[in-house]
Amino acid sequence: MGRILKLQLMTWTEVEDYLALSDGIVIPVGSTEQHGPIGLIGTDALCAEAIAEGAAERAQVIVAPTIALTPAPFNMHFPGTMSVSTSLFQNLVSEVLAGLKQQGFGHFYFLNAHGANLAPLNRVAESDKKTPICIRSWWDFEPVNVLRRAFFGNGEGMHATPSEVSITQALHRIVPMHPAAKDPPRPLTDEFIQAHSGDRHGPPDQHRAAFPDGRVGAHSALATPEFGQRILEAAQTAVAADMSRFFAQGE
Ligand code: NI
Repeated sequence: MGRILKLQLMTWTEVEDYLALSDGIVIPVGSTEQHGPIGLIGTDALCAEAIAEGAAERAQVIVAPTIALTPAPFNMHFPGTMSVSTSLFQNLVSEVLAGLKQQGFGHFYFLNAHGANLAPLNRVAESDKKTPICIRSWWDFEPVNVLRRAFFGNGEGMHATPSEVSITQALHRIVPMHPAAKDPPRPLTDEFIQAHSGDRHGPPDQHRAAFPDGRVGAHSALATPEFGQRILEAAQTAVAADMSRFFAQGE
């Protein structure tokens, strides 16, 4: 492994040298939204960034700044959530890609950590079929899910999951236990999970009324930094292998 090729820590001449050999870039995509009483507001962006950076280091690919302001309208009744419209996010991604393509980048790997980003990211890829674009979420990988099931079982849930809280505990901080997060949340029905995949939640007042502590079926209190470290490494390894395959196409 070499050093991490973080775009922000490179010079333009280093980027030009890189482009003479490779045209791949990884773009982490997260969110800035409530993650329950013991989950950090930046959870999704922090998870996407750490997994993308670890994978990019293994694969020696440039990793772009994390896109952290994304659509999370359903969480706007929880303070601290910052949300932009789906169309603004989609246009931002399109314009960023257009600019990078003009400079010689050609393969784009999005490492996602927020369900609501998937539909607009897929629309960008659909509208630009000639450009190799790969969109993955960190929970797409079986070695990651083996750990999630083993550590948390049904407690994993949908939002403010013990997996993502564990990763931020390993990386950043452990929030002291909050009374509203001590007990398991109300379990979700299969119908609810199906209907709300990709964060298809209702208006913000209804969402807060339905999930007053912010957790959606997730028992965040099962999180530990040790679990987080294991999940993080499994995700970084799986994503590195996946992105290496993707970037090797069409060379
Ligand atoms: Ni999240």
